[in-house]
Amino acid sequence: MAQIIDGKALAAQVLERTAKDVADMIAGGGVAPGLAVILVGNDPASEVYVGRKIAQCRKAGILSLEHRLPADTPQADVLALIDQFNADPAVHGILVQLPLPKHINAALVLDRIDPAKDVDGFHPVNVGRLSTGTGGLVPCTPLGVMLLLDSVIDDYRGLNVVVIGKSNIVGKPVSMLLLEREATVTVTHIETRDLPDVARKADIIVAAAGAPHLVRGYWVKPGAVVIDVGINRVTDHDGKTRLIGDCATHELDHAKAVTPVPGGVGPMTIACLLSNTVLAAKRSSPDFQ
Ligand code: GUN
Repeated sequence: MAQIIDGKALAAQVLERTAKDVADMIAGGGVAPGLAVILVGNDPASEVYVGRKIAQCRKAGILSLEHRLPADTPQADVLALIDQFNADPAVHGILVQLPLPKHINAALVLDRIDPAKDVDGFHPVNVGRLSTGTGGLVPCTPLGVMLLLDSVIDDYRGLNVVVIGKSNIVGKPVSMLLLEREATVTVTHIETRDLPDVARKADIIVAAAGAPHLVRGYWVKPGAVVIDVGINRVTDHDGKTRLIGDCATHELDHAKAVTPVPGGVGPMTIACLLSNTVLAAKRSSPDFQ
C-alpha cells in the first residue's frame, strides 16, 4: 500500500511556522508583512483560490490588500495599480491571479511587478535566478512540491525524475529545483513520444499536465514517488462535480508514496505563498543581510 503524503498536515506546519515568524517580526518592532492580491474578472476557480489565500493570510497575521477588478478593466489600470503597490512600503508581496482576461498581456503585467515583491516568482528576474541557482523568490507550487518530496526523500542525487507538463508555473520551475538537488530530470509534455514508457523509468513522477487521471498504474514503477499537481473539475454521472488529479491514484498501490487530490499539493501552494510573503518582508527590512 502506498503512503499517502498528507499535504494538509504539512501545510499546517508551514503556516504555523509562518505565523510565528510574523509574530516575531512584530514583537521585534517590525511591521506586519503585507500582501496585495489583484483579481481581474470573475473566473470561478480564481475566486475560490484568491478567497483561500486571503483567509490564510489573515490567520497568519499577514495584512492582505484585496483588489477585485471588473473583467473589462483596461490593461493600463492594472499596470497603474501594480506601480502603486511597487511604491508602497507596506506592501511586501504582490500577486496577480492568473489567468487574466484575454485583452490583458499577462507577460507585461508580470514584468511590471518589482522582483523583490514578486511572491509568485514569475518575474523574469526571479525565473533567471531560479535557473542559475542564485536566490530570488521561487514559485509557490514548485516550492510546495519540494517540501512534499522532502517528507519522503532524503537524497535526490542521481534519481530519475519525470516531470509531466512544461508550464511556467509548475513544470519548468520544479525541474530547476530538482536539477539543483542533482536529480536527473526529464521534462515531458503533450508531444512526448511513448510517455508511459518514459514515466516507467522514473523514481519520482511530478504530474502537472492538467489532464484528469492521465497517469495510470502501469506508467508507474514499483516504489516510485508520485506527486499529483493536477486539479481537474469533472462531472459525475449524477451531475455532481468533484476534483480529481492527473493520476489514477487508486491504481498506484505499488508506489512508495503518492499525494492525494484534494489535500496534497493545493494546501502547500497557499502555505508557500505566505512563507514567500514573509521572506520578501524580511528581505525588505534594513536589518536584513
Ligand atoms: N493561477 C494558477 N496558479 C497560480 C499561481 O500559482 N499564482 C497565480 N498568481 N495565479 C495562478
